Amino acid sequence: MTFQFDGEEVSFRPGQSVQGALVAHGVLATRTTRLAGAPRGMFCGIGVCFDCLAKVDGEPDQRTCMTPAEDGMVVCAQEGTGRDDLAI
Ligand code: FES
Repeated sequence: MTFQFDGEEVSFRPGQSVQGALVAHGVLATRTTRLAGAPRGMFCGIGVCFDCLAKVDGEPDQRTCMTPAEDGMVVCAQEGTGRDDLAI
């Protein structure tokens, strides 16, 4: 089973989170901060810190450590808020 991350196929095991699969695949950053553009990735791994946010199937601000991986889902790294409509 696989999902896409920024156009790249990522394989996962049943029950694995999106973030777990990404880390196993070597992806350490899934978003950038709003002002500085600094990379962020998994920190707490339990849904508390929100450092692992990414767009999942078009929805921004998804905590990928809490999101079960599903076959065929499309995950994209999130720039800033992930909401272009809020850009100033
Ligand atoms: S890594 Fe902290 S909320 Fe996902």
